[in-house]
Amino acid sequence: MRTVRAPGRVNLIGDHTDYMGGLVLPMAVQLGTTITAGVATPAGTSQAGTSQAGTSQAGTSQAGTSHGAERLVMRSDRLDGVVDLALPIEDPSSVSPSWGRYVAAVAAALGVTTGIDAVVTSDLPIGGGLSSSSSLAVATALALGAHGTPLEIAHLCRDAEEAATGVPCGIMDQLAIAGGIDGHALMIDCATETVTPIRVPTDAHVWVLDSGQARELAGSEYATRRAQAEAAVAIVGPLAHAAMADIEALADPVVRARARHVRTECDRVRSFAAALGADDLVRAGQLMVESHQSLRDDYEVSTDALDALVERVTGIDGVYGARLTGAGFGGCVVALARPEVVLDGVRVQASAGAAVLD
Ligand code: GLA
Repeated sequence: MRTVRAPGRVNLIGDHTDYMGGLVLPMAVQLGTTITAGVATPAGTSQAGTSQAGTSQAGTSQAGTSHGAERLVMRSDRLDGVVDLALPIEDPSSVSPSWGRYVAAVAAALGVTTGIDAVVTSDLPIGGGLSSSSSLAVATALALGAHGTPLEIAHLCRDAEEAATGVPCGIMDQLAIAGGIDGHALMIDCATETVTPIRVPTDAHVWVLDSGQARELAGSEYATRRAQAEAAVAIVGPLAHAAMADIEALADPVVRARARHVRTECDRVRSFAAALGADDLVRAGQLMVESHQSLRDDYEVSTDALDALVERVTGIDGVYGARLTGAGFGGCVVALARPEVVLDGVRVQASAGAAVLD
């Protein structure tokens, strides 16, 4: 029997830069995913859950009929359906229920062949901008016995998530979750994959507010943005270090705007880290607002609901700044506020990364 926990994450600043080799500044949060996993017995009796392995009717595409086969069974306290997969796993992307695709892809990446019976519990808002899916992926990796550095675990899970969903995401979410440090955000240079811990001042309260707008079309729009930014790289080289004059000389206005966002966002991440270090929360807040404007105008991943929420929150006394966080196209806003401010969201605190508890 093994119990593991993986946190969620929020990105303070630096969005749509990770897959371009740029800078990001996420932090792991105190909310997360816990998995308790036991080895499924041949008779199908669960060691981790309350019901029996191999008897659930999950209706998965891979649910076989052979009682002798090794199976990976996982139940959740919050997500519907039971994941019940014959091992080894062949096609993670067709698994049902859909949350099982993350589980299946991680198990496939690890080449798991021994039956597991596991229970997942989570206090993360599902689809609430705190990366509940990457948290599940990293927790699954640890529950299935993955070894390695946080960076190695993050790579395994990133690749698995792309296999599960088809979204060509970057390394930010998985690395923040696997490598989180209590009391710190992580400045990650995604080109070199080096991590610099940045202390979050105790008087800087971080809030996550849900726009109420479910993220839609994120997969295809995300891939489109990535392709547009890559079109700029083909002309001016890696965007994090490209000369601004070269970017402004790009002929295609859309490609130019995407490149401008990536380039200026990397500068904002550096400035934000310096502002936190100097306890200059007013400056940090300004940079968050500038980041939002760039994501809205140059990268075009904001929505009316996100813009309205940022506008409302930044108008509240004691709020230093706010911006959309993560992929955009709906989802959440992150805000930085004085300790006495209470916002209608979830207050998150910089926390340690994923770990095996026992
Ligand atoms: C999603 C992806 C990340 C990152 C953000 C945008 O959360 O999973 O890799 O690209 O969008 O910054």
